[in-house]
Amino acid sequence: PLQLTLAILKPDIVAQPHIASQIKNIILRHGFYFVRSKLLTLTRAKAEEFYKEHEGKFFHNRLVSFMSSGPISIHILARENAIAEWRKLMGPTKVLRTIYENPESIRGQFGLTDTRNSTHGSDSPETAKCEIKFFFPEFNIKEWEVSE
Ligand code: CMP
Repeated sequence: PLQLTLAILKPDIVAQPHIASQIKNIILRHGFYFVRSKLLTLTRAKAEEFYKEHEGKFFHNRLVSFMSSGPISIHILARENAIAEWRKLMGPTKVLRTIYENPESIRGQFGLTDTRNSTHGSDSPETAKCEIKFFFPEFNIKEWEVSE
């Protein structure tokens, strides 16, 4: 069935428009549809809220600082098995693992460090719903829900 996920192009990618369009083309080539898109800059407080599950981790402060450092490009993507497929296309979170496991992935090509890893994707159907609501409160997700 059709599934939705939330994708984010992080600030260092948005700051490089040529790379941002390259990544959007990769997304389209892999059969995803852009359902909604939004460009905004997170306040520090909003970034903390978005990443509250990582509170207390050693990288939390640098993650929140980075994610609120400039505009991010946020997208609701639709595809069959969108959540898993987008995570596969992004590749592993950590830059060293991308080099060994999937250098062709988006993070393999464009990720710089474990924090500046180019993109974000929801990790489960519950998270996807919650993250879509966080960035697109006006979006009626019920209309998109397809029975399995
Ligand atoms: P993201 O998919 O946005 O979800 C959590 C983010 O935390 C992750 O991508 C990275 O940007 C960041 N992150 C995860 N693990 C580490 C780490 N070990 N060191 C620094 N940043 C990390």
